[in-house]
Amino acid sequence: MYNSPFHSIDISSNSFLVTGGAGFIGSNIVEYLLKYNAKKVVVLDNLSTGFEENIKPFLSLSNFTFINGDICNSDDCHKACAGVDFVFHEAALGSVPRSIKNPIATHNVNATGFLNMLIAARDANVKRVVYASSSSVYGDSKTLPKVENNIGKQLSPYAVSKMTNELYGEIFAKTYNMEIIGLRYFNIFGPRQNPQGEYAAAIPLFINALLNNQSPVINGDGEQTRDFTFVSNAVQANIKAMFASTINTKGEVFNIAVGERVSLNQLITVLKKIIGTDIQQTHNAERTGDVRDSLADISKATTAFNYIPEVKIEEGLGLTLSWFSEKYGARTVEKELINKEKK
Ligand SMILES: NC(=O)c1ccc[n+]([C@@H]2O[C@H](COP(=O)([O-])OP(=O)(O)OC[C@H]3O[C@@H](n4cnc5c(N)ncnc54)[C@H](O)[C@@H]3O)[C@@H](O)[C@H]2O)c1
Repeated sequence: MYNSPFHSIDISSNSFLVTGGAGFIGSNIVEYLLKYNAKKVVVLDNLSTGFEENIKPFLSLSNFTFINGDICNSDDCHKACAGVDFVFHEAALGSVPRSIKNPIATHNVNATGFLNMLIAARDANVKRVVYASSSSVYGDSKTLPKVENNIGKQLSPYAVSKMTNELYGEIFAKTYNMEIIGLRYFNIFGPRQNPQGEYAAAIPLFINALLNNQSPVINGDGEQTRDFTFVSNAVQANIKAMFASTINTKGEVFNIAVGERVSLNQLITVLKKIIGTDIQQTHNAERTGDVRDSLADISKATTAFNYIPEVKIEEGLGLTLSWFSEKYGARTVEKELINKEKK
């Protein structure tokens, strides 16, 4: 998937930790680092929502280490950070509904686990931490496009946990003189995103339904809009933010998106066109805690570290669909995937 590098330095002398590296976005970052011959890539993941299968091709590589551990455990975090130059922090419990159902679990992993990781990174003298924040921090702000310094009130425990990351990120950067950068992802999609379970994201759910000849189910009228972003753009942002030399690293946050928005109804129309089906969608009630519209202003990331989203939505959906079809085959996604969503 990565035909030309997003970095210009030689990374063969650098060691990296990717927390949540067995998950969707994390495993795509791992794949990139290994493709470009990183000296060492360590993954810390407890496989709660990630899959060992996502890192299976890397397990036999001598420069890859998998630690089956928990960011809620300070010892695991210290062990994972030992000898590491750079940390990509992706481990978290995603999903707004999950956080509404179990706010303590979300807080423990996303807030306390994040704090554990910052302390471990500080103690290991890591050079830079780039972590995953979320567009959910914009909350009830109606302003479009979303600009980094203009946020509203958060609408869910998940959003609060990500806001907490940003507050701690800035405080740690300033108090302990660390380099910390937050990336506010806007609806990332692509290969290895889990299509299963109560808390699955919209695009893999829709793809799974359509490939299985079932009606995709939309929460609400489908006119809500999102700035859907293909995962290679998120990988690009992580790599460029990690190596940018002129960037403000004192807890700055950056929108990571495409800068275009589509409604869920439009999204399904595109998917149906690519698949060649005319199955109609059905609608459920709107979900509590969801924002109505989302669109990012990405100019801050473009200016700071030359972030330029290369893959737009239609191409990204095509790549995602071929990955899902190739991996699971039509009509078999549901049967072959183990539902990891136990809570
Ligand atoms: N996918 C999106 O659209 C999106 C949008 C905004 C923010 N984010 C953030 O990006 C990051 C990656 O999300 P993703 O979509 O790849 O989700 P994911 O669930 O696929 O990946 C998260 C990974 O973290 C691991 N993990 C969870 N709890 C852990 C713990 N206590 N200790 C160690 N590992 C743990 C999981 O097993 C999983 O592999 C998360 O921080 C998420 O909140 C994602």
